Amino acid sequence: MADTKYTGSEMDRRYHGSEINVTYSKKRCIHAEECIRHLNAVFDVTRHPWIDTEGAPAERMAQTIHLCPSGALHYERKDGGPAEQAPETNTIRLWKNGPIQINGDIEIVGAAVEMMHETRATLCRCGASENKPFCDNAHHKVLFRAEDPAGQPAEAVTVSSGGKLRIEPEPNGSLYIRGSMTILNAAGEVIFTGDETWLCRCGHSTDKPFCNSMHKQVGFVAE
Ligand code: SF4
Ligand code: FES
Repeated sequence: MADTKYTGSEMDRRYHGSEINVTYSKKRCIHAEECIRHLNAVFDVTRHPWIDTEGAPAERMAQTIHLCPSGALHYERKDGGPAEQAPETNTIRLWKNGPIQINGDIEIVGAAVEMMHETRATLCRCGASENKPFCDNAHHKVLFRAEDPAGQPAEAVTVSSGGKLRIEPEPNGSLYIRGSMTILNAAGEVIFTGDETWLCRCGHSTDKPFCNSMHKQVGFVAE
């Protein structure tokens, strides 16, 4: 195993390889462990540094990084291989009693995030994250519970097409989302398709996952 070189701060690291550089945001990682499960030769927290950029071919590493739901991991190919492409459709998945996972051609704008182009993100919907709008696993600490509605089987629904998906965390309010999207509950059923919605991120809506202005009653403060 070659000793991978890294630069940057503890929170934002760049691991330098011969064919690929891997970047890791500790603040964005929600320890879903997709990386460790799928490619332990590269991602291994029992080792230091925990990412070995020579541990697998660059393409294999890229494919694994695409599985990172939070967007904590990204890469830069140095071998001429393709950069990550946004998926053709924008999909929002509600985790059971957990965050909102978004895959798509995402733009996140707001006070805490000036403008971020992304393909993957997990956003807080319990209201307790200290890294809003991103999830930081606080939903476990606050025992967040969400009764998401039942939906229709994905095969029965014409899924919205892609294009830009703009996510705007409103000050002390909901996530305002514009662009073509499909929202799935934790069972993978479609509960919404459309071009505009407001999702609850204070944790108190009685119409989850949608905002119903409870954030005003509970005095939700974000940013
Ligand atoms: S897949 Fe992403 S979110 Fe999950 S442990 Fe790895 S870096 Fe963290
Ligand atoms: S953000 Fe939770 S009800 Fe509006």
